[in-house]
Amino acid sequence: MSRTKDRNLPVALGGAPVFVQTAESQGKLDQWRQVTEDEAQMVHEMTLRNELSGGTPIVREFEQTWRERHGTRFAISVINGTAAIHSAMFGVGIGPGDEVICPSYTWICSISPAPMLMAKPVFCEIDPETLLIDPEDARRRITERTKAILAVHLWGNVCDMDGLMKLSEETGVPIIEDCAHAHGATYKGRPCGSIGQVGAWSFQGSKPVSGGEGGMVATNDVDVFERACLIGQVNRVVGLDLVTDNYKHLQPLGLGIKFRAHPLGIGIASVQLKKLDELNARRRTHIHAVEAGIEKIRGVRPVKKYEGAESAGFYGFPIHYLPEEMGGLSRDGFVDALRKEGLRANANPYPLLHTLPLFAEGFDIFTRGRGPLCTPEMGGDYQGYKPGDFPVSEKACAQLVFLPVLSDPVDDAADQVIAAIRKVADHAEALAEQHAQAAD
Ligand SMILES: Cc1ncc(COP(=O)(O)O)c(C=O)c1O
Repeated sequence: MSRTKDRNLPVALGGAPVFVQTAESQGKLDQWRQVTEDEAQMVHEMTLRNELSGGTPIVREFEQTWRERHGTRFAISVINGTAAIHSAMFGVGIGPGDEVICPSYTWICSISPAPMLMAKPVFCEIDPETLLIDPEDARRRITERTKAILAVHLWGNVCDMDGLMKLSEETGVPIIEDCAHAHGATYKGRPCGSIGQVGAWSFQGSKPVSGGEGGMVATNDVDVFERACLIGQVNRVVGLDLVTDNYKHLQPLGLGIKFRAHPLGIGIASVQLKKLDELNARRRTHIHAVEAGIEKIRGVRPVKKYEGAESAGFYGFPIHYLPEEMGGLSRDGFVDALRKEGLRANANPYPLLHTLPLFAEGFDIFTRGRGPLCTPEMGGDYQGYKPGDFPVSEKACAQLVFLPVLSDPVDDAADQVIAAIRKVADHAEALAEQHAQAAD
């Protein structure tokens, strides 16, 4: 007969796992179904009504709902979140020779539309506690060419919008809110995406509101809205969509980029939006429970939130990991031990943008030495970046561990997550030793 393994000992040291499930079957911890019969029914009905192109009734209704939810005068759906940011940048007038400030810690699509508008990305540091753009560091990087700052509500946590709006008011530089991770988040009671000059959302398949693919741009600024229509919304017309005559002479609208959303994607997103508040409440309860539990464990810390910020969307669940308080057990060693417990933890999934070859080394986007990412060798003045340029962000991101976001957790899932972390923390020294030996 085999001896029962000790459940108090980490699997990595010969014990039994906290979770009965294997890492691969962890889906069972979460009973949430992102897509149900309701979305299928919507697609079925829209297809039979041939609502397959353009600003159909469902698309217009969804945009109206978005306006009402966010309290903005305008909202226009687009094909994806990247197109939403592209439209927002064009909307605020980003163009050749401009600079756009963006935290290095975000997904590439927060900034990748800038070089396509002939503008230069200028990266900045994050606040190491919140992982969000540091307004003071952004301020130091402003020049007379700076024409926008990206406020990315990364992982669903809300930026210091007071700090950023003060900066915007003092310098005249508009704030673009990237809400791709933060559907339903608020700051001091105001919906994210409605605080800066323009907000942009993604409805890509893994987002809290998904259309498979899709996106939204919302603003109170009529010119930003009409320019967003100008770049991507073929055939949006004066009277029905556009409110001024500014671009009437350019009808049919369209500058060679067609960003109009697929109505079926918007139909799916419209069903998902009805479930957003419930989804957010469930995710929030789970995350708060885990964060409260780990407060008492040495070596791990919840990510801080700004006063008045109400996180939502919860696209990821990062926590700080401090190897020096864990007997020197490396972040990867910690993640590995958690995974052996059956907890599907990960290291930080997003590389810092200044380390990506595109932005570090530059690139001759338009060939023949043209474009904002051309270095002097390519014929331009782009200086590129190197590791070490953003020490605060680099250190903070090297110490992040991501826990699973559970939307409808089974009973005591939070307790089990905490137990797995505590168990590994309790044996951190022995695990560190084992890890060091394995590396030799
Ligand atoms: C922070 C952020 N911004 C923008 C985007 C772009 O959204 P999409 O994939 O819909 O183009 C993403 C996508 O994941 C994102 O994570």
